[in-house]
Amino acid sequence: MYDTINSSLDYGGLTLKNRIIFAPTSLGLPRRELLERLGRVAAGGCAMIIIGDVPVLPGGFVPSLYTDKGQAFYRALADVVHREGCRLCAQLHQSDSHFKGMLRYVPGVLTGRISREELRPLLNQQVGPYITGLPAEKVKEITEAFGTAAELALQAGFDMVQVHGDRMCGSFSSALFNHRTDGYGGSPENRARFAVEAVSAVRRRLPEVPIDYKLAVRRPPYGKAGVLEEELPVFVPLLEAAGVTSFHVTLADHGDLRDTIPPKDHPAFGAEGCFLPFCDQVRGLTRLPVCGVGGLTDPGFVEEQLRSGRIDCAAMSRQLIADPDWPRKVSAGRAEEIRRCIRCNKKCLGGMMAHQGVHCIYEERKEIK
Ligand SMILES: Cc1cc2nc3c(=O)[nH]c(=O)nc-3n(C[C@H](O)[C@H](O)[C@H](O)COP(=O)(O)O)c2cc1C
Repeated sequence: MYDTINSSLDYGGLTLKNRIIFAPTSLGLPRRELLERLGRVAAGGCAMIIIGDVPVLPGGFVPSLYTDKGQAFYRALADVVHREGCRLCAQLHQSDSHFKGMLRYVPGVLTGRISREELRPLLNQQVGPYITGLPAEKVKEITEAFGTAAELALQAGFDMVQVHGDRMCGSFSSALFNHRTDGYGGSPENRARFAVEAVSAVRRRLPEVPIDYKLAVRRPPYGKAGVLEEELPVFVPLLEAAGVTSFHVTLADHGDLRDTIPPKDHPAFGAEGCFLPFCDQVRGLTRLPVCGVGGLTDPGFVEEQLRSGRIDCAAMSRQLIADPDWPRKVSAGRAEEIRRCIRCNKKCLGGMMAHQGVHCIYEERKEIK
């Protein structure tokens, strides 16, 4: 009944045992708990886990590819995940938050004058000037770092990488943020240059490794970074020529997180498979595998999208948080036992925003007040 979901796939040279991927999800958990949680997701039967927001430069608050401790963590993670026959992918990202610009808001946040909800738009206001003013030598250093980070990721046991097309790639892509007058700004070709250089840096260092690209699509008024739908015919072929082997297609960020992680009552993206129309456009521009994401919870619906060839695989974040056993239950003919995600965002996005770690309303313990 779910033959396509359960069938294997050649994903840029890597064999996935089925079509279900754990979408990049920063869980905000302590390392031991993180290992346990991701091990649990792998044991639930998905074919690959994408680890969200792995920094391409040294530093940051999450395990770094550049330190012994970070390498040891990722090696332990790879062991846990591989034991379940699951693949591991590193989402390589560079933040576009301007650290110095952020400092001015610290007193306001500490004294409670600025709430977390108010902080996000304030930080977003800094992205344009930061991206526009970043010296070209610094830009080169960052795009090269995607190659270095990819090599380190493979050393740590990752099977492949995803270049995060939102964040810095996304803000360079967007005419709303990028007002540069050099070769990185202006035309869509120039705005694609940062992403193309980042992908090329990986391809140069690792000629054989599959490179997924998280293609963040902008549909005004939703999303501010990323690529407008009418610009996709420029971006997709350039990225493919640079070495991308698959596309993970979703809505662009830098607006409201409830747009990219939409609740069921979202005015535009409340439906099952809410971002699949963007996949249709990408599908028309490339023969590479296309991965859909966004509100995918219903096995029948997912099977139909895969079977019809609309997408090649289905990534899920909140659904696999709600029930990591979704793939296993589907393959065992027990789909009716799935705890379906109701996209309430209460403890997943809610937990993340409250800095309490990502959880789910279905969890009995660890109540979030
Ligand atoms: C708690 C949480 C954390 C997320 N972290 C990331 C991340 O680190 N990188 C990323 O590209 N997307 C991240 N996402 C977005 C998901 O990958 C996905 O695109 C989005 O949740 C829509 O899919 P879904 O309906 O299956 O949840 C996150 C989503 C959630 C709920």
